[in-house]
Amino acid sequence: MTHNTLPRRAAETAERILPHDAGPGRILRAVDRIEQFTGADRVLDVIQRAVLALPLGSARDGLHGRWLGHPLHPVMVQVPLGSWLSAAVLDAVPGQRRAARILIATGLITVAPAAASGWVDWADLHKTQMRVGMVHAVTNLAAVALYSASLTARLRGREAAGRMLGLAGLGAVGVGGALGGHLAYRQASGANHAEAVPHLVSSGWHPIGALADLPEDQPVQREIEGIAVVAVRQGDQTVHVLAERCSHMAGPLAEGALENGCLRCPWHGSVFRLSDGWNVQGPATAPQPVFDTRITGGLVEAKLRTR
Ligand code: FES
Repeated sequence: MTHNTLPRRAAETAERILPHDAGPGRILRAVDRIEQFTGADRVLDVIQRAVLALPLGSARDGLHGRWLGHPLHPVMVQVPLGSWLSAAVLDAVPGQRRAARILIATGLITVAPAAASGWVDWADLHKTQMRVGMVHAVTNLAAVALYSASLTARLRGREAAGRMLGLAGLGAVGVGGALGGHLAYRQASGANHAEAVPHLVSSGWHPIGALADLPEDQPVQREIEGIAVVAVRQGDQTVHVLAERCSHMAGPLAEGALENGCLRCPWHGSVFRLSDGWNVQGPATAPQPVFDTRITGGLVEAKLRTR
């Protein structure tokens, strides 16, 4: 058997075990279709502008989770999800009607701040992510409507109807959660897009070019071991170097603007301090990898700084 036949046989075996139109593939293609569906893009644009125009001030960064170091939304959704799932369990336990109602009400109250954090994140996504995010939001809205109806039915003494509506709500929130997982892990919304840099650049000093070739007070792209970095020269003694791809969504920081010792990303406006890469303004929730620099014989060298 040659080396070439091995992968072919493995592929044929995989095809027999898991044909392309089997379950997982079908689900993935369905979500891919949501990503590619352009029919509602104008509506998305209107909602996006409305969310971005909300006068939230510094609360916007709070809702993004900048203070937490990663998106707040996945943390916030634990409360309504946990409450509703627990209510479903208590529905199966005799004598727990009141506790189940309290849990459903808790979910309905706490879903509002969870949704708020999700909407501010959503407004800074790529279009394909926004499409999936909108379906995620719609299924969760359906869950809220079903749980509201469930609680109303229970309070009116229609316990069986209340339980059925609760189960339907749990199904809707399950679909919403699966789409949220796709958004977070497959489409990498909310992930730190600069996380790989410290793992890809070897330790030690690396040349990034001649000082004379760096324009003053202007971000320019350079490379270290194939990894893009952005260099900003300030005077004859100081060069700042950060990872070039923004931690928020990999925007090109070399095309950004300098402001008060910081660099503003051209895509969604995250602001990173040049001296240490700190994300002083979101939506980025993670700082930018930063490099120490030195100038020897007119040559600029950079070394990854460990935080
Ligand atoms: S890519 Fe979104 S702020 Fe940089």
